Amino acid sequence: ELLVGFTATPDPGTGSFQELLTDSTGNYSLCFLRVQRNQLNLGVIHRPSEIPVWSAAVERFPNWDGGETRVLFNGSLVLASGVTGEVYWSTQTSGDRVFLSDSSNLVVQKFSGGITLWQSFDFPSDTLVENQNFTPAMALVSANGLYSMKLGHDFFGLYQKIAGQVPGSGQMYFRHGALQAKAEIRNGQPVYLILEPDGFLGMFQNSLIPVDVLAFNTFQRNMTGNRRVRLESDGNLKAYYWTGSGWVLDYQAITDFCDLPRSCGSYGLCRQGAGCSCLDNRTEFSSGGCAPAEDENSGGLCGGGRFKILRRSGVELPFKELMGYRKTASMEACEATCAANCTCWGVVYSNSSGFCYSVDYPVETLVAVDDGTKMGYFKVREGVRRSGGGLGAWFGAVLGAVFGVSLILLGIIGVRMYILKRRGIELEEGMESGVGPYKDLGSESSRSIEL
Ligand SMILES: *[C@@H]1O[C@H](CO)[C@@H](O)[C@H](O)[C@H]1NC(C)=O
Ligand SMILES: *[C@@H]1O[C@H](CO)[C@@H](O)[C@H](O)[C@H]1NC(C)=O
Ligand SMILES: *[C@@H]1O[C@H](CO)[C@@H](O)[C@H](O)[C@H]1NC(C)=O
Ligand SMILES: *[C@@H]1O[C@H](CO)[C@@H](O)[C@H](O)[C@H]1NC(C)=O
Ligand SMILES: *[C@@H]1O[C@H](CO)[C@@H](O)[C@H](O)[C@H]1NC(C)=O
Ligand SMILES: *[C@@H]1O[C@H](CO)[C@@H](O)[C@H](O)[C@H]1NC(C)=O
Repeated sequence: ELLVGFTATPDPGTGSFQELLTDSTGNYSLCFLRVQRNQLNLGVIHRPSEIPVWSAAVERFPNWDGGETRVLFNGSLVLASGVTGEVYWSTQTSGDRVFLSDSSNLVVQKFSGGITLWQSFDFPSDTLVENQNFTPAMALVSANGLYSMKLGHDFFGLYQKIAGQVPGSGQMYFRHGALQAKAEIRNGQPVYLILEPDGFLGMFQNSLIPVDVLAFNTFQRNMTGNRRVRLESDGNLKAYYWTGSGWVLDYQAITDFCDLPRSCGSYGLCRQGAGCSCLDNRTEFSSGGCAPAEDENSGGLCGGGRFKILRRSGVELPFKELMGYRKTASMEACEATCAANCTCWGVVYSNSSGFCYSVDYPVETLVAVDDGTKMGYFKVREGVRRSGGGLGAWFGAVLGAVFGVSLILLGIIGVRMYILKRRGIELEEGMESGVGPYKDLGSESSRSIEL
């Protein structure tokens, strides 16, 4: 525990973290965490793996070197500048001690009655640990700030942030609704999530019987190691368990790479099994996407920015079932709803169903489909496109290698499809009747769902 009067400064010589306080089992410690090269934050790490499970929600990161940053406990746990007195972060409490529990909960307490005034479990960052309550008042936010997770009245959702909006708003790209198999949700009372030691993410409402059980691979298997769930920087939600020497992936919300919200970056095109390319077929794909990410402060298209139009057929939105749409008679009518509206970045139209999906955020990755009647119309800000090439021979070599690997993959897929075709007619008849695994409905034959 830390008592009133405690103060510490970061040592310029230490590596990625500097321990301040360790829990009774030695599994967790409160540390200065190095952020990028020369900045720091206060966080709790899992010691054996050095993985952060919590970090303070600072507005901006203080400097590591230079000796001006310090952490102190004067009733509040405070991260401040010793020179200017600027407070970067504070628990704003008047407690007697700071204590780190063996479940990684950092607590500010009163001596009398052990009253808890503040606890890190109420302010999660990107991670939930076992038996930590996740309530509708909280949000998980990925370390890069791009994604968040929030609870609704009978579901939890993953959201991609849109500039200027709070966590838990923006475009939803994953939704898990409560199955309510064992208990039903009653109106008016909030639900909460708990990561259970038994290998599932349980949703509860006022009772020990879960209204939903999101089972992991190790569901109801005897596991002794710690568990954690984390909202990753690619937008995926993953669960892990600790084996004693490493973390093993136990669950992931999004299993298909192309279904991640920014799998190929802005204006990218993701093709299952073949990787990334660009929506504009004259642009070469690079790891940063096909156009620089939209600047947070640029004001989007409503700031009077000029744009040009890019059209591409055979494209689909990766999570269109979570997006708003209207029905229009034609692609032209669909485009017209977007053309004059500066909050609209594009539309995707399905000619067979007449559904017109509006993209109300800077265009990210779309998914390639072998269906030319699904058409996209996108606005591209002028002067922001990066020119392909010109980065020298090294870049060329990397591209060449990627292209080579893609060709091999395409070859393998081609051979497999050829074999499948030759295997005969029964298979095709089965597909035409529209009967198949539920999972397949989400991808190639989704046209039938829309109809
Ligand atoms: C870490 O926690 C586990 C139980 O969760 C415990 O068995 C183990 O001894 C702890 N590790 C250390 C180093 O104390
Ligand atoms: C603790 O220190 C911070 C930063 O110096 C200060 O803002 C705060 O008022 C202090 N709290 C108490 C109870 O002295
Ligand atoms: C799980 O652990 C409990 C107690 O540790 C034990 O009684 C039980 O037999 C174990 N079950 C399995 C399937 O290993
Ligand atoms: C790019 O796409 C356009 C229209 O979709 C097509 O006319 C053109 O041939 C394509 N160019 C290349 C290099 O594939
Ligand atoms: C522009 O698009 C947004 C989002 O689709 C919509 O809410 C708004 O009503 C549209 N504005 C006009 C003038 O159509
Ligand atoms: C869209 O559908 C209409 C009527 O169903 C058809 O006439 C038209 O050719 C289709 N357009 C494309 C691009 O497939």
